Amino acid sequence: MNVTHLECALCALKHEARRLLNLCTKCGKPLLVRYDLEQAARSLTKESLRGRRADLWRYREVLPVDADEHIISLGEGWTPLLHARALGEQLGFRELYIKDESQNPTQSFKARGMAAAVSMAKELGAQKLAVPSAGNAAGALAAYAACAGLEAFIFMPKDTPRANVIECEQTGAHVTLVDGLITDCGAEVARRKDAEGWFDVSTLKEPYRIEGKKTLGYELAEQLDWELPDVIIYPTGGGTGLIGMWKAFDEMEQMGWIGSKRPKMVTVQAAGCAPIVRAFEAGKRFADEFPNAQTTASGLRVPRAIGDFLILDAIRASGGTAMAVTDEQLIAATREIGAAEGVFCAPEGAACLPALRKLVEAEQVGRDERVVLFNMGAGVKYLESFSS
Ligand SMILES: Cc1ncc(COP(=O)(O)O)c(C=O)c1O
Ligand SMILES: [Zn+2]
Repeated sequence: MNVTHLECALCALKHEARRLLNLCTKCGKPLLVRYDLEQAARSLTKESLRGRRADLWRYREVLPVDADEHIISLGEGWTPLLHARALGEQLGFRELYIKDESQNPTQSFKARGMAAAVSMAKELGAQKLAVPSAGNAAGALAAYAACAGLEAFIFMPKDTPRANVIECEQTGAHVTLVDGLITDCGAEVARRKDAEGWFDVSTLKEPYRIEGKKTLGYELAEQLDWELPDVIIYPTGGGTGLIGMWKAFDEMEQMGWIGSKRPKMVTVQAAGCAPIVRAFEAGKRFADEFPNAQTTASGLRVPRAIGDFLILDAIRASGGTAMAVTDEQLIAATREIGAAEGVFCAPEGAACLPALRKLVEAEQVGRDERVVLFNMGAGVKYLESFSS
């Protein structure tokens, strides 16, 4: 297809594309896929998209899989961008939207990343895939590995929402619950992977999950008729959705689809685990590990992210910001969004609402701006977080 090479996101060292690789062989940072975008843009045009399949593979030319028959798909992507009229009215916004990722296979945006990563892992010959996960990535890996006929080895904190554990078991994965955080799960995968013959599909530790997630950016542009919103509010753990969208915007600009204007990228984290917020406020490019990480929004319980500098670079370049909200605020917001819009958000996604209120109060966002809140998963997976 159109892939030219892999490139280190920090030191820019080039790596060969058609090999199973994890991190940069020189500096240990994430590898990103680079394309011949001029060639891609010959067949991938705005007009050509009209008749294409209603999933993320509609952007085939800017996705890494070589042969069509290697695509492992459960119908991921092309999720609705809902116009949140009632909520918007309450807040005084005319153009408030929710990108509703709960409508993906396995009910979260992790399906996008795993569709791309598992397709590539299979194409390049891996047989056993391992992942540390806060929950939703695990469910997605289990499903896509099953669909691909590969084995999945999953490591999650022992207090991960039960729905995530059960879905992995019911889709045939090997599940290990770890007495610790996602970083401890990652260390366990790293320690055992060579001896066990596992390919590590940790987020941003292989180059392809982000390629699936970047389609969020392509979809957003297409659904808004090629005019990006003014503000994107993104619940950030590992940050790959945000980093992926930022990459998509650059690719679209290079293909001549959009101009150089970018949305303000806003990272929302939980007050009990806010390493990116701290680093942003301290003016740092790399984030320190957040001690004693704690939040009921399990996807935000990521005390250290390998893509920290990519998140922080994007926020700063866009004129955006980073902020924390409390668990009480995000749980209350879940009900508020649900009652106003009929969308039962994951608590991570609900965190976008108190964040928007703070942005308005601080006059960092105006009510005339077009704002998109990202709901990356389904509230129904988090029954432990809600009291009835
Ligand atoms: C529902 C939900 N929202 C948000 C996030 C955070 O996403 P990211 O890792 O891209 O920052 C996750 C990740 O686990 C998630 O499952
Ligand atoms: Zn490097």
